[in-house]
Amino acid sequence: MTDLPAAPRDRKAEHIELALDERSQLSPSAFDDWTLEHQALPELDLAAVDCATTFLGRELAAPLVVSGMTGGTVEAARINRNLAVAAEEARVVLGVGSQRRAIEDPAQAASFQVRRWAPSVPLLANLGAVQLNYGFGIDECRRAVEMIAADALVLHLNPLQEALQPEGQGDFSGLAAKIGAVAERLEVPVIVKEVGCGLSGSAARRLRAVGVSIFDSAGLGGTSWARIESWRAGDPASGELFARWGVPAPDSIRQLRALGDVTVIGSGGVRSGVDAAKALALGADLAGIAQPYLRAAVTSAAATVEALARTRRELVIAMFASGAGDLAALRARGARHRAEP
Ligand code: FNR
Repeated sequence: MTDLPAAPRDRKAEHIELALDERSQLSPSAFDDWTLEHQALPELDLAAVDCATTFLGRELAAPLVVSGMTGGTVEAARINRNLAVAAEEARVVLGVGSQRRAIEDPAQAASFQVRRWAPSVPLLANLGAVQLNYGFGIDECRRAVEMIAADALVLHLNPLQEALQPEGQGDFSGLAAKIGAVAERLEVPVIVKEVGCGLSGSAARRLRAVGVSIFDSAGLGGTSWARIESWRAGDPASGELFARWGVPAPDSIRQLRALGDVTVIGSGGVRSGVDAAKALALGADLAGIAQPYLRAAVTSAAATVEALARTRRELVIAMFASGAGDLAALRARGARHRAEP
């Protein structure tokens, strides 16, 4: 998310507090509309089910991403450390939240610097794409990557959030070309994601044309920024009006997959390893989770380690019970919409 230095209260702290309020979570998740077919005769050994993969040249024990959330406060530093310890233990991808405030005030950088706890996993830097219209360019993008020794830079798109945010920045014009210019010059790949309203196939197609080839759906179905920002603005009615605005995560994943030769992270309302399996069966290469891991990380590193281990366990069981011995087989199985005959 974006930050204003002059915000009267601390926005990052408010985001954490409000995202932990269960009313910020849309339910049921859109993944509930999809099922994986049960296979009574899997002809597999559960112990041999293999969900390992690689991403950005690093090996992962599971195709999971801890989606970028926070940084810039003392509490955020503790959360990031717990997420990093757990991501390293589970060998999965780790993102941090928007580094804008640390670019503007280097004293804040330490709260994002998780490499020491997560030396071997892919690490994702993060900035709001809209910042490219508010003074940021390739230099700030490079600094975000260097600040945390990242393997890629996530640029998040959040037009609805900015529109509802009291201090939001609304100039999203000309962004595709600016994102393309960063993707062309940056030393590491650029990943474009939404924050919970879903990246559509048409938006991603425009971004692929300018050189982006990794997309994160961050679709509708989990954390509702419409609700969170409208609460902050004292206008909950707008939050309800826009709570269901967006592309549901399963639809976004399918639209992104249809682009062909791109890498797709499926996220937004993934709440279990079963949801992750559905995201993968729908065409994602990796599945991303944010709010449930935040909930664990405010508790302890041990709780976060357990939350990540549980997601992997659930994913492996879902693969086994649908007869998929590896991720390629899971993808080939596909998922079925409950409304389909
Ligand atoms: C986020 N998210 C987010 N995304 C991003 O790209 N940059 C950011 O700074 C943040 N900040 C942030 C803070 C908090 C407290 C939460 C819960 C989330 C969005 C996140 O990465 C993810 O895309 C959405 O939350 C949807 O996933 P879930 O929460 O439904 O699993």
